[in-house]
Amino acid sequence: MALSLEQVPVAQTGVYPTPLQPLERLSRQLGGARLWVKRDDLTGLAFGGSKTRSLGTLLGRALAEGANTVITCGPTTSNHVRLTAAAANQLGLKVVLVLRQPKDGAPALQGNMLLNQVLGARLVYAEVDGLAGLEPVMEQVAEALRGQGAKPFIIPGGGYSPTGALGYIGLVQELAQQSQAAGFGIDAVVFASGSGCIQSGLLLGALATGTRLPVIGLTINRSVAELVPRIHHDVQAAAALIGLDGHLPADAVQVLDDYIGQGYAIPSEAGMEAIDLLAREEGLLLDPCYTGKSMAGAMDLARLRFKPGQNVVFIHTGGTPGIFSYADALVRPHGDAAHSAQLAGSAH
Ligand SMILES: Cc1ncc(COP(=O)(O)O)c(C=O)c1O
Repeated sequence: MALSLEQVPVAQTGVYPTPLQPLERLSRQLGGARLWVKRDDLTGLAFGGSKTRSLGTLLGRALAEGANTVITCGPTTSNHVRLTAAAANQLGLKVVLVLRQPKDGAPALQGNMLLNQVLGARLVYAEVDGLAGLEPVMEQVAEALRGQGAKPFIIPGGGYSPTGALGYIGLVQELAQQSQAAGFGIDAVVFASGSGCIQSGLLLGALATGTRLPVIGLTINRSVAELVPRIHHDVQAAAALIGLDGHLPADAVQVLDDYIGQGYAIPSEAGMEAIDLLAREEGLLLDPCYTGKSMAGAMDLARLRFKPGQNVVFIHTGGTPGIFSYADALVRPHGDAAHSAQLAGSAH
């Protein structure tokens, strides 16, 4: 079968290419490989994020199938859920968000949850233990909508699906063009890996476009043992959609699980230090759940595994609204506060 990338319907959900920027001051401080940041937090849609790309191919398919309503699911903190609501609005589709009811009562009106409300999405809460429990609820919502004459299209949580993975092929093409224009070769691409959809999409993109791209996923919840076989499987499933053989060599799927800390969405010391450092040295905002932890890993890799003269690209996958849900963890006593207290004391 011939490679049929052009036949994949894509909805215009984002603004591309996102910038590729050098982290000059940080790289000088670290003294290892040069670090770059691919600004997928600037995809142009409702505070941005890489998930805008998987929504491009998923909503492209929804439109091609004549859908008029989109259903997706996730925790109330989900970036994918917020971006689905925004993209659906942009395309004139109705949207229903099936959300896991938080155990400790009503979800805080903050971060992504606040934005879901501002975006006017219809919200359905479900009391389930694991996120997998949300999938049957989406089916029930779809069935009810069909009964009312609507044409619903279900998007799996996180956009995790072979069609979603196809959305990241464009990211590989952008990285190849931008690094070539800037005159450097990419020695590693590093980012937060959760379901593995972004990672599968990048590996597929490299395969489909014949780009040499060493991809290293830093997991934020799953172990290496769980994620590696899953990604091998998912690359094959997505490749089949475009007529490609997606078998990869065993060592092509590189995953590190050293930066999870105490668990998913629990701030880690290394992640918080990375957030402070990037904010203060580069004016770049990262979040405690995804990009803070993965940047901690990217900095270690740039210093310890790679050498001066090499280039490591960190993908800022988004998640910026999440910052506002972590106020207590982010605002820690800093030297300046102590200094101000001293000054106030000496004024008496
Ligand atoms: C900001 C951010 N980065 C990275 C990821 C991980 O993406 P994936 O689940 O495709 O591995 C997510 C997933 O929700 C995310 O929201």
